[in-house]
Amino acid sequence: MPAVSASAPGKVILFGEHAVVYGQPAIAAPVTGVFVKVIVQPNPLKPSGSIEIESPAVNFHATRAELPEQHPLNTLFQQIEQTLQISRLPAMKIRINSTLPAGAGMGSSAAVSVAMIRAITQFLGLPLDNEQVNRIAFEVEKAFHGTPSGIDNTVITYQMPIYYVRNHQPQLIHVKEPLTLVIANAGEAPSTAEMVAGVRQRWQQHPQQYEGLFHQIGCLVESARQILEQGSWQQLPPLMEKNHQLLREIGVSSPALDKLVKAALQCGAYGAKLTGGGGGGNIVALVHPEEADSIAQQLLKEGALHTWLTTLRPINEER
Ligand code: PMV
Repeated sequence: MPAVSASAPGKVILFGEHAVVYGQPAIAAPVTGVFVKVIVQPNPLKPSGSIEIESPAVNFHATRAELPEQHPLNTLFQQIEQTLQISRLPAMKIRINSTLPAGAGMGSSAAVSVAMIRAITQFLGLPLDNEQVNRIAFEVEKAFHGTPSGIDNTVITYQMPIYYVRNHQPQLIHVKEPLTLVIANAGEAPSTAEMVAGVRQRWQQHPQQYEGLFHQIGCLVESARQILEQGSWQQLPPLMEKNHQLLREIGVSSPALDKLVKAALQCGAYGAKLTGGGGGGNIVALVHPEEADSIAQQLLKEGALHTWLTTLRPINEER
């Protein structure tokens, strides 16, 4: 069997994070400039079932046998075996190369899962469709993060902007006009699981107030979807501002995130909000394409640790 590789992009949540955990819709898009690439090679000298995994970027090297039973990669291997109805995966070497920062809210764990599921199943000559890849990646995400909504694995599997409601088929969004985004990292964040648990605690204490906030976010998402599909981007910035405000009320912003959102607007972004779990991590700003580089530079001066650029394109303009 020859070596096989598969790649998966990063992701950004445009609207609806946190409320999506409570059944509201959210919108996410792939970030194409950063990706995970997984290469699978045969390992003919080893017995069947022996799998070597290495990820030089995070200094990870292990064999399947060394992984604890509950390790997400064990979930991934078992799920592939069950789906393909094979008793044991053959001997192979798996290498993970990544330009996606781990723990920065870009969906690195879901990207590793999706690229790995595709590379292994293609290596076996038994490729899976998007729905099957997404289902397995969701199981692996649960092993990683506890109770994720499933938005990360879904947008990364489909590699298209999506409108997502928990436990429903994702709906692909065909954007009408290109949109340029700058993503900027405000520094380390607590894990998404911790942020989600904090929101849950506050929701339990103030159910009515939080249900109201989630509902308002859900309404914003519905409007944003229509705007993206109809192509009147000028209406997006107020929705971004409102979504950021509601996320602040939910208690998931931070001084560093608020500072970067403000800085982005001051240096010319049309709109900006925190994205993902919050408490730190990333903001996303909608910008004029010709100003993207200079806004990214200015955000670095304002304390961003890293920036990324990405463009959502209508299907017929995709490269
Ligand atoms: O931290 P991220 O970028 O993976 O985003 C988490 C999004 C949440 O809505 C907060 C959680 C979830 O599982 O949807």
